Amino acid sequence: MSPGPENAPTSPSTSPPALTPARPGWWRDAVFYQVYIRSFADANGDGIGDLPGIRSRLSYLADLGVDGIWITPFYPSPMADGGYDVADYRDIEPRFGTLADADALVDDAHRLGIRVVIDLVPNHTSNEHRWFREALAAAPGSPQRARYLFRDGRGPDGASPPNNWLSVFGGVAWTRVPDGQWYLHLFAPEQPDLDWTNPEVHEEFTSVLRFWLDRGVDGFRIDVAHGLAKDPQLPDLPTEALNPEGTAAERWFAERGRHHPFWDRPEVHAIYREWRQELASYQDRAESPVARGAAEPMMVAEAWVPFPDQLSRYVRPDELAQAFNFDFLECPWDAGELRGSIDRSISATSSVGASTTWVLSNHDVQRHVTRYGGGRVGRRRAQAAALLMLALPGSAYLYQGEELGLEEVVDLPEEVLADPVWERSGHTDRGRDGCRVPVPWTTTGPSLGFGTGPGWLPQPPAWAAQSVAAQAGQEGSTLELYRAALRHRHAEPSLGGGTMRWHDSPSGGLVFSRGADLVIAVNLGDQPLALPAHRGIVLASGPLDPHGRLPVDTAVWLRTAG
Ligand code: NOJ
Repeated sequence: MSPGPENAPTSPSTSPPALTPARPGWWRDAVFYQVYIRSFADANGDGIGDLPGIRSRLSYLADLGVDGIWITPFYPSPMADGGYDVADYRDIEPRFGTLADADALVDDAHRLGIRVVIDLVPNHTSNEHRWFREALAAAPGSPQRARYLFRDGRGPDGASPPNNWLSVFGGVAWTRVPDGQWYLHLFAPEQPDLDWTNPEVHEEFTSVLRFWLDRGVDGFRIDVAHGLAKDPQLPDLPTEALNPEGTAAERWFAERGRHHPFWDRPEVHAIYREWRQELASYQDRAESPVARGAAEPMMVAEAWVPFPDQLSRYVRPDELAQAFNFDFLECPWDAGELRGSIDRSISATSSVGASTTWVLSNHDVQRHVTRYGGGRVGRRRAQAAALLMLALPGSAYLYQGEELGLEEVVDLPEEVLADPVWERSGHTDRGRDGCRVPVPWTTTGPSLGFGTGPGWLPQPPAWAAQSVAAQAGQEGSTLELYRAALRHRHAEPSLGGGTMRWHDSPSGGLVFSRGADLVIAVNLGDQPLALPAHRGIVLASGPLDPHGRLPVDTAVWLRTAG
């Protein structure tokens, strides 16, 4: 659809809105933008994105119209897992900048009306964290080892791992240390799991939360929120649950009403209740920046659980504010599947009074243009999916580059692959680097404006035509579609909050009402879709056909008679 009066391209704002005092539950309809720091913007030319780089692009994010950013880990890290191996929770990785840069970023973001959510990684530390070094230097059974999960091995000489658990990244989940004990790592060996039955671990993370709240951040994304508690017996997984051809272990347990030994155990919820109390008491303290009228802090869970009702337990009123909706992310481009997921998601979150989130991509999954078929078809569908997602009740999480319609880069040369999955899988799984390629900002330059030199992963030359500079102001571009959609969301509060009502539609169609007079129609079928009577088109992901019908793989927001 050509931009009409309601969806003309935006020009950069000259006077951005200041951060207004927070509404209670400000996150419930917020649109967040995920900044994968290594790949967003590189200010010092070393090929790696950094905090000054993010700062330099904040006005772009303000113009895009997002309410908040979530920044992936920026802490000192040996980068065994792109920063999800944290060596010090109270400092900044020198490659990313300094604490002063972080403070300046938070201030600038707030001045532009953007809230800042940071990544908290509580399941594991880096093996270079002071605690883990102390644990290695200490004896079995020492308090230093009790912060982690050290155990003796099995077999006469203890040479077999304590149980049969496998790492998410491939291989055994245990590594042996020189004195013969083993330690647990659900991810890479450089990411030893903490023991959350140890009160010292609780105290440490509460103090880390306070450290960052004192610096003015507005919330935390909780990494592996479903993994912190382990069955204290550390039992073997049943072989049925381990069978890679069979049902995923988490689902296998959930369907039998049993607790998995390390995923989604009931004990994790006490941790989130504790943190919620901490945030609430922080909010009440007069001297804190949050209490001074910024935002009530929030927390969002990264919890990969098979069923939405399991996810809803993380967002009960005294726990976390939100959880990423991976049920929606994992849906194929299919009307029935998406409708089922939308209904399940809303019903699960509303059963506990929480808002729903909508997510299509992040730094761990294949980009959705590619998942939806790739090329022109994938991009068309992704544009339609954006209008679907941004019209659903709740909050949305965008992943950097989706507003440009970027595809997964599937042909990165093997020698540049940095994801631990590549090595740990014995080079059978290329890992997640294909969705982490640096953002193209300009049509020229060694890394298309990402930095002054080449980026840490090479961009496909075709990305010049998809860069921000190439799309800005261009009618029909993905970037202008996102800008227009976010502008409308701000102008019409009913697009974020409220409820939705499904309309009957032919197979392959999704049609629903939002607010007093908006109807959203998405065509996932193989025939053009007749639109309901309407007073005009607010926004569309592509032109209607000559008969005024909605073409295949297209979405539209309509103004109806009300
Ligand atoms: C989830 C993060 O999103 C992912 O990138 C990371 O590898 C694992 N957690 C381990 O921290």
